[in-house]
Amino acid sequence: MGIFSFNAIALAFLLAIISGAVNACPPSDREALLALSSSLKEPYLGIFDSWKGTDCCSNWYGISCDPTTHRVTDVSLRGESEDPILQKTGHSSSGYMTGTINPSICQLDRLTTLIIADWKGIAGEIPSCLASLPNLRIGNLQKLTVLNLADNKINGEIPSSIVQLSSLKHLDLSNNLLTGEVPANFGNLKMLSRALLSGNQLTGTIPISISNMYRLADLDISRNKIQGQIPAQLGKMKVLATLDLGSNMLTGEVPPAVLGSTGLGILNLSRNSLEGNIPDVFGPKSYFMALDLSFNNLKGPVPGSLSSAKFVGHLDLSHNHLCGTIPVGTPNDCLCGNPLKTC
Ligand SMILES: *[C@@H]1O[C@H](CO)[C@@H](O)[C@H](O)[C@H]1NC(C)=O
Repeated sequence: MGIFSFNAIALAFLLAIISGAVNACPPSDREALLALSSSLKEPYLGIFDSWKGTDCCSNWYGISCDPTTHRVTDVSLRGESEDPILQKTGHSSSGYMTGTINPSICQLDRLTTLIIADWKGIAGEIPSCLASLPNLRIGNLQKLTVLNLADNKINGEIPSSIVQLSSLKHLDLSNNLLTGEVPANFGNLKMLSRALLSGNQLTGTIPISISNMYRLADLDISRNKIQGQIPAQLGKMKVLATLDLGSNMLTGEVPPAVLGSTGLGILNLSRNSLEGNIPDVFGPKSYFMALDLSFNNLKGPVPGSLSSAKFVGHLDLSHNHLCGTIPVGTPNDCLCGNPLKTC
């Protein structure tokens, strides 16, 4: 009896050790994460204090693994969220992290989500190894679907290799210090549904290849230094619902195909140098939650077809050189901006 129970306990103990080892993340994933944490500093919350022990799949803050393979699939570190750990900061629910994003992240080749956002202080460049050529087999995040590095101080250019992230659905690089151009073949990101690049210092023109992104619903390149004309092809995109190009240096005319697009619900071309007349292309299928063409050099009349639009919620045509009458029956009661009431 005594021997039996001793054996049973020993067996249970042995099984626990074996299954523990089997369920742990591979040492290579653990080392990649430790290298990542060694180049980041987060002094207030102690997030990285939880990154200890051999199994990076268990209780490492922000890390999730595939339950079967135990490979790391998610690195999700947000400086601003409802997470109770962030209440510790005392001052609002926002954290602060400095340092850089270590290229070791590229060794996590099963990663589907990489979020290191809203930390205000992370600098350095986006590691270009995120998507090196597959045959080089150094860092190749082919499974990455979410890449969110927004609201930091990340500088340098958007790595051209980013267009090889063939599974990417959600890209958010907003509010950083990125320079250079949007890669010309950005449109290769065929799975992308949200491309948020606002609040950087991007230059160059809007790549025409973007119009081939048939899943793209939300394109925000506002608050950059983008020049040139708005590609008319953007108006042909099937699911594009939000197009925000505000606060850039765009020139030329508002393409009729874009303004007349029946899918666009939010169109913001405000604060550019657009000229010419506002195309008279509204129709019964035009449905804008917000249409903002303010602060440009538009001239001529407010197009008569505006009154045929099904819905225009927020319309701002102020600070242009428009003249003439406001069309009768304009389907809203909140036209605003000079010379009308302020918005
Ligand atoms: C349009 O963009 C401008 C500049 O980025 C911004 O100030 C404005 O609030 C936006 N308009 C709407 C309706 O969101």
